[in-house]
Amino acid sequence: MIRTDKIYDVGQLPEIGVVPRKMHAWTIRTDRLGNPLTAFRDEIVDLPELRSDEVLIANISVGINYNGIWAARGAPKNVIESNGKYGDPKEDFHICGSETAGIVYAVGENVRNVSVGDHVMISAARYDKSCPFILEGGEPEFSPTYHIWGYEANWGSFAQFSKVTDYQCLKKPDFFSWDEAAVCSATGTTASRMLRHWEGNRVKEGDVVLVWGGAGGLGTSVIQQAKAYGALPVAVVSSDERGAYCCSLGAVGYINRKKYTHWGNISELDEEGYKKWLLGATMFRNEIYSIIGSRKNPSIVVEHPGSDTLSTSLFVTANGGMVVLCGATTGYIASVDLRHLWIYQKRIQGSHAGSAEDMREYLRLCEKCGIKPSVCRIYPWNELPKAHADMAEGADLMGKYAVRIVTDIEGDR
Ligand SMILES: NC(=O)c1ccc[n+]([C@@H]2O[C@H](COP(=O)([O-])OP(=O)(O)OC[C@H]3O[C@@H](n4cnc5c(N)ncnc54)[C@H](OP(=O)(O)O)[C@@H]3O)[C@@H](O)[C@H]2O)c1
Repeated sequence: MIRTDKIYDVGQLPEIGVVPRKMHAWTIRTDRLGNPLTAFRDEIVDLPELRSDEVLIANISVGINYNGIWAARGAPKNVIESNGKYGDPKEDFHICGSETAGIVYAVGENVRNVSVGDHVMISAARYDKSCPFILEGGEPEFSPTYHIWGYEANWGSFAQFSKVTDYQCLKKPDFFSWDEAAVCSATGTTASRMLRHWEGNRVKEGDVVLVWGGAGGLGTSVIQQAKAYGALPVAVVSSDERGAYCCSLGAVGYINRKKYTHWGNISELDEEGYKKWLLGATMFRNEIYSIIGSRKNPSIVVEHPGSDTLSTSLFVTANGGMVVLCGATTGYIASVDLRHLWIYQKRIQGSHAGSAEDMREYLRLCEKCGIKPSVCRIYPWNELPKAHADMAEGADLMGKYAVRIVTDIEGDR
């Protein structure tokens, strides 16, 4: 590796294998937390030192997802405080970003799976390979050391260079552009795990799959993958335009949630309020039946709004079916009618990110079925805070946002 003191402008790349000592990075700091528009700042920082199993990536395109919004707000936690927890040096800033596609610029001495110059995409799931739980055969995703790179761990993708662990790197497939490859980690991979990982409730041909936020980053990918597995995805959205978009991706139909009002916490409802909730949930379920053309309930409900919708999700799920939940955008405290859980033997399953193996499975499906991740807007580097503010507002988001760091580079389809 050759080191240089030159600071490269954003968009410029050093020769492969030449590694600058300093770089541009969008940092957050404790005194700026709050509004994503002002929490992020473009600073010059030192590049991190690599450990023996780590890889330095020059980021070409990076995906925008909720992790950046949560981190910028400092809620539900200030990620700068957990910075340094996973063997990285503790810094007083944090570089977010859990999704990227880029070029390998340096590798630690024990790295064998990638080499300098390789085009790679990154899985955000990180863990300590030497943790006793994993050494004894435990799934890394259940290890106490499991965490999300670029959220709980520093040196994420919102910078010219990132530091990742070797097993996070997968070869970027030629059938994806840089931007498509950049947006696969939080959504495609997470969706793949939600649909395929949970034994007893894996997606099968003919299953009805209800997809909240069908036009969003996660939802678009769930629709594409569920369809590829022969299932019948039904999207929930807040406009007919979004519904039409979901149908163009493979949804068999959509429900406009704005027609209903029975959302929120049901634990405090009196008898009359409960009846109203049940009526709303029943009408919602009947709309699924009319889309499918039979009284068939969803075998899988892909949940992430959380507080507002969980009770409805559990209610509409088929007997023995699963609500699989990876987030709670509308609130972390939710209530359900437990009778719907035990009497009909349903399951509420948490699911978090996905492993490199989940990402491989997702890529196999994309190649086989010609799936392209849905990238709806590509922002330039200096609009990274705006990309987060736009996402938080959710106004016109259909699919995913990416931020392009280096243009005019080989590797685009
Ligand atoms: N744990 C993980 O590994 C993981 C990975 C990816 C995402 N997530 C989480 O999943 C959530 C969605 O992520 P995303 O990237 O898909 O975000 P996104 O692109 O912003 O999509 C979220 C969708 O949720 C819908 N929505 C908003 N408010 C709603 C409400 N009150 N009721 C029902 N639906 C509502 C919106 O669609 P409409 O307005 O059209 O209904 C929106 O399109 C976030 O909480 C994120 O943190 C978790």
